[in-house]
Amino acid sequence: MLAIRLVTDPAERDPLVLPVRPAGDAQEHPELVAVARPPAAELADEATALLSMARLTGEAGETHLTLRPGRAPSRLVLLGVGDGGDGDWRRAGAALARATAHETCITLLMPVDVTSEALGALAEGLWLASYRFRMPPTAQRPADGDDEADGPAEVVLVVADPQQHEAALERARITAETTRLARDLTNMPSSVKCPQWFVERIRPEAERAGLTVTVREPGQLAAEGFGGILAVGGGSARGPRLLELSWAPENATTHVVLVGKGITFDTGGISIKPREAMVLMRKDMAGAAAVVAATLGAAAMKLPVRITTLAPLAENMVSGTAFRPGDVVRHYGGITSETTNSDAEGRLVLADALAYAVSELRPDLVVDLATLTGANAVALGKHTGALYSDDDTLAAGFLAAADAAGERAWRLPLPADYVPYLRSDIADLYSAPVQGAGSVTAALFLREFLGDLRERWLHVDMSAPSWAYGDQHELVSGATGWGVRSLLRWLPDLA
Ligand code: BES
Ligand code: MN
Ligand code: ZN
Repeated sequence: MLAIRLVTDPAERDPLVLPVRPAGDAQEHPELVAVARPPAAELADEATALLSMARLTGEAGETHLTLRPGRAPSRLVLLGVGDGGDGDWRRAGAALARATAHETCITLLMPVDVTSEALGALAEGLWLASYRFRMPPTAQRPADGDDEADGPAEVVLVVADPQQHEAALERARITAETTRLARDLTNMPSSVKCPQWFVERIRPEAERAGLTVTVREPGQLAAEGFGGILAVGGGSARGPRLLELSWAPENATTHVVLVGKGITFDTGGISIKPREAMVLMRKDMAGAAAVVAATLGAAAMKLPVRITTLAPLAENMVSGTAFRPGDVVRHYGGITSETTNSDAEGRLVLADALAYAVSELRPDLVVDLATLTGANAVALGKHTGALYSDDDTLAAGFLAAADAAGERAWRLPLPADYVPYLRSDIADLYSAPVQGAGSVTAALFLREFLGDLRERWLHVDMSAPSWAYGDQHELVSGATGWGVRSLLRWLPDLA
């Protein structure tokens, strides 16, 4: 991850980056933002002249490079920061990382009145846009130095009072680091990534962060009745796991359980997916990646909230030991479900984890994140998660946090008259309703496992925003790590 330093007097100022914002109504051209350590008058005049010559607008993420042979600095970058809101600073940071990807060290003069929040958002943009997934090095192919640059090696931010911004920069660093971890987990091919691999990848980091780690293997899952996880994982040679992390600080008053869908590959099972639909199914554990990464982040931030995180991990495969359409699954706690479509597997593993959370952990709140349905994208497009809750305050709180964090979700309803779609002749529930509103009926299925915590539950179907189909602002083509930023904004509200 690139280094970001806060300084008052930079030793080096080449290349130099100056923030630019759109002009007020009266003027035509954008203007330089007043910075804490202004550049020399001649340089400021030159930059001002460039604003009109280069037809800049000052909108967030606009960048313009001027080469100045034989002069200092030899490269001047004008960076649009828009209205100066956090979202605009995040975009500016992302654009800057891309525009200066081949530089070693860049120096950015920060506005005289910059808030810590804005500075943190800029840092997030720099760190998230300069992410790139790489396969781990092997003995045959060690990590080498000739990789294409993903961002500058170092960014120096020039501010009047570094100390004022240190806490915000540290929060941004933890948020970016854990979002990048979630992306790494989700991008990893499923030839490598199986339930046990996921556990081993997380365990050392979790223990180092002060979390308690509990892992249930198939024998234990069977002994305790986790029928959904076992059914879905039964078709794979690489068996399922239930990963449980606990962050239990002494000063916590609220206990939240985070649950994330962890299907390390989803073939659809015996109800096999068509070829095109299966291509990206290594991402079907993005919910688990997000909740686990956010828990590591919460521990690093020492948030005074008790968090128990559950990642039911399974590979949904086609084989002679796979569960069949029409099988009846007995979930943790005894509720049974009939599945006529083995591709509706996510809700089966989540049901076990939710039922376990409600009966054994007795939390104040339960939140689950899942790449649950293709219908999420049908309803809301590629960039927006579908949020469900019976509690208006809980829903509004999470939506506000997501918005502030730069992630998007939209609340969808849980209509009472769709509940009968879950009726089965041979089991308590039917898991794959065919009446439409697929994301909604999946949420209604999950809600059946919340017992008396039904109104203390929030579910996000994040199949759509878990993946980016190209570089866009702070997102890089591939896994987005969606949910980590929202959770790390939202969890402090519970303290
Ligand atoms: N993992 C998929 C959902 C998904 C689809 C995520 C596309 C990301 C992109 C999930 O397990 C699934 O297959 N859902 C089915 C449910 C149906 C069988 C009731 C779906 O959405 O078609
Ligand atoms: Mn599926
Ligand atoms: Zn799935």
